[in-house]
Amino acid sequence: MGPCGALGWGLLLLLSAVCGAAGEPHSLRYIHTGMTDPGPGLPWFVSVGYVDGEIFVHYDNNTRRDVPRTEWMAANMDQQYWDRQTEISQRNEQIYRGNLNTLRERYNQSGGSHTLQWMSGCDILKDGTTRGYHQVAYDGRDFIAFDKDMKTFTAAVPEAVPTKRKWEDDGSIAEGLKNYLQETCVEWLRRYMEHGKAELGRRERPEVRVWGKEADGILTLSCRAHGFYPRPIVVSWMKDGEEQHQDTQTGGIVPNSDGTYHTWVTIDARPEHRDKYQCRVEHDSLQPAGLYSWEPSKPNLVPIVVGVIVAIVAIAIVVGVGFIIYRRHAGKKGKGYNVAPGE
Ligand SMILES: *[C@@H]1O[C@H](CO)[C@@H](O)[C@H](O)[C@H]1NC(C)=O
Ligand SMILES: *[C@@H]1O[C@H](CO)[C@@H](O)[C@H](O)[C@H]1NC(C)=O
Repeated sequence: MGPCGALGWGLLLLLSAVCGAAGEPHSLRYIHTGMTDPGPGLPWFVSVGYVDGEIFVHYDNNTRRDVPRTEWMAANMDQQYWDRQTEISQRNEQIYRGNLNTLRERYNQSGGSHTLQWMSGCDILKDGTTRGYHQVAYDGRDFIAFDKDMKTFTAAVPEAVPTKRKWEDDGSIAEGLKNYLQETCVEWLRRYMEHGKAELGRRERPEVRVWGKEADGILTLSCRAHGFYPRPIVVSWMKDGEEQHQDTQTGGIVPNSDGTYHTWVTIDARPEHRDKYQCRVEHDSLQPAGLYSWEPSKPNLVPIVVGVIVAIVAIAIVVGVGFIIYRRHAGKKGKGYNVAPGE
């Protein structure tokens, strides 16, 4: 366990600046996906780890190795760690191959495209308590989930009942899982947070742009937030200061290639109500939340004025440089003239 994880709560509060903000919720999550028909060129088994929603490790059946997906993982973990994780992932791949076949038989499926997904992980909540979960989905629907406190498995569909029986008959499975979720997972989450705190703790403000477009008597207002980090954000449309849910659309929160995120939310409005609408953006980097309205393009004089000034300066430079060249040239000529007679 890292030094921050080992501290009591009193000390942790005092040292919050060193250990990353105490009271911030954190999460460690692994998602394993197995597909019978992944699509051309794609791996059938993929395992991805996330810290605070950011991908930090990756494994698939092509590379057959756990590899870091962040600088801080590459810099802080030794070969032994990668070997051990790789061994676990290779074993999971093997288990998955069997599981996909078992389920296909149990569901009486002769072929087609099927997906088995496993999600497990733990959270450290705002008040410092922790929670863990382990759940399985088949073809996008809940299949079975672990109840950590009862140490039982909950079958979500009849096809999961044999699995539940098998896992509960072997008492060590529930015991081991509970121990992993409560202890091991939380310890590793603290360790990863410590290694990645510079990266994970950073705050990047969204650039927010609001604009509108009118068609068929409907004004569609768009609010786009760009380049923010971390991922959680709430973008909402307000009318006369009240949050609106109807007639809104969003594209979700999408990653950019530079590790930041972007999102957008639109709302359909009556054109004459334009001035009543504001876009509200809540994000860790904004205190308080930001409010933005559409300012339809008034003729903007700034670019014109700047353009004229640039033109004047450019002309002045050209004239000035021309004059200097002319003078130097004239001077050289004069000198040459003076020297020539002496040769
Ligand atoms: C990984 O899975 C894909 C899809 O099934 C397959 O084409 C590929 O050969 C596999 N890679 C290895 C190394 O087995
Ligand atoms: C399983 O599939 C076969 C062939 O499609 C069918 O004949 C059989 O009745 C199915 N069994 C069940 C239990 O659905």
